[in-house]
Amino acid sequence: MLSSFDRVIDRKGSGCFKYDAMKLIYGRDDLLALWVADMDFAVSPQIQAALRHRAEHPVYGYNFKAPAFKEALDAWLMKRHGWNTTEHKLISLPSLMTALALAILSLTKEGDGILIQSPVYPPFHSQASDHGRKLLINPLIGEDGLYRIDWIDFELKAAEAKMFVLCNPHNPVGRVFTPEELSRMADICRKHNLIIFSDEIHADLVYAPHRHIPIAALAEDITLTGISPAKSFNIAGMGTAVLISQNPELIKPVEKLNFALHTYMGNNMGIAAFTAAYGESEAWLEELLLYLKANRDFVLEEIPKALPMIKISPIEGTYLAWLDFRAYGLSEDQIMRVLRDDCRLALNEGSAFGEEGRGFMRLNFGCPRSVLEEALCRLHKFPKE
Ligand SMILES: Cc1ncc(COP(=O)(O)O)c(C=O)c1O
Repeated sequence: MLSSFDRVIDRKGSGCFKYDAMKLIYGRDDLLALWVADMDFAVSPQIQAALRHRAEHPVYGYNFKAPAFKEALDAWLMKRHGWNTTEHKLISLPSLMTALALAILSLTKEGDGILIQSPVYPPFHSQASDHGRKLLINPLIGEDGLYRIDWIDFELKAAEAKMFVLCNPHNPVGRVFTPEELSRMADICRKHNLIIFSDEIHADLVYAPHRHIPIAALAEDITLTGISPAKSFNIAGMGTAVLISQNPELIKPVEKLNFALHTYMGNNMGIAAFTAAYGESEAWLEELLLYLKANRDFVLEEIPKALPMIKISPIEGTYLAWLDFRAYGLSEDQIMRVLRDDCRLALNEGSAFGEEGRGFMRLNFGCPRSVLEEALCRLHKFPKE
């Protein structure tokens, strides 16, 4: 039922970062929470039932992932993305960023170049430097809000890099890369012997006519793909992600480190939620996508009426809007202050996604429409010029 997404759920006190850490981050807790990338919707009834069922069994010992775990994912990837992964090796980890850390640590060495396309999800930046690797940035070129790849720069940086970390669909700019872009990236990576780590956590949140293509389907032998139901099924707190690859030479070293660090075990609830998400929640996801698409259209149409100087990037995928405030000529601190103290809104500041994001704000529209309408009213308090 589409209307179930209209339900406003009070998440305060549930131990969630978005609401319970707001005071810590913004200095006040009375803001509309349009920041952290999880949604304010109840998860699918199938996931709720699977969790209840698992909780009712009173023993919570060490896990074994039944074949149903991978089978649910394989069937999902085949049906939704036309990608056959039945012969792929899968390893499971607590999060996609754990997968990226393990891939960097086991497949590159200190000083090796890690190529990313900024602005991008903040840990992409920190993972390279935290592990003593050299961060190589291929800035995405934004023109009138639409982002494209600077190919000359991409190849120049690729020549120096060991690994390319792709974010597709892209957080925060909302691009879903085309088959042409993906094959060109894959060709350049192959030419310069790069490993591709493809973060596809937003793969199922794509709006027609755009279509998600796993880059591995174009370059199986050089790609590791990180997959997780965290975003599409709103179970980011369940701590269950996977890394897959067809190439044993790529995945075996990561698996070895996953064992050595004991990050492979997973948790009872996450395994149940993962299996019910991919195995039973497709109809729920279809409804979610309709709701999110309407929210996206609302954001694209209505926010520029409240803030005429703002530019919003087209949103091909994700539930994140990328708002360009630069025409206001305010510093990022000033924008944040007005949004927080006058509009009472919590958004993410753009520079957290890299210097290329300075002057932008990220708005999460994975919330009931009434919350977005309230946000829009509050945005009218932002100075008009
Ligand atoms: C592109 C991207 N990758 C990874 C994550 C986080 O995933 P995990 O919590 O599994 O590390 C996010 C969360 O916003 C994201 O946007």
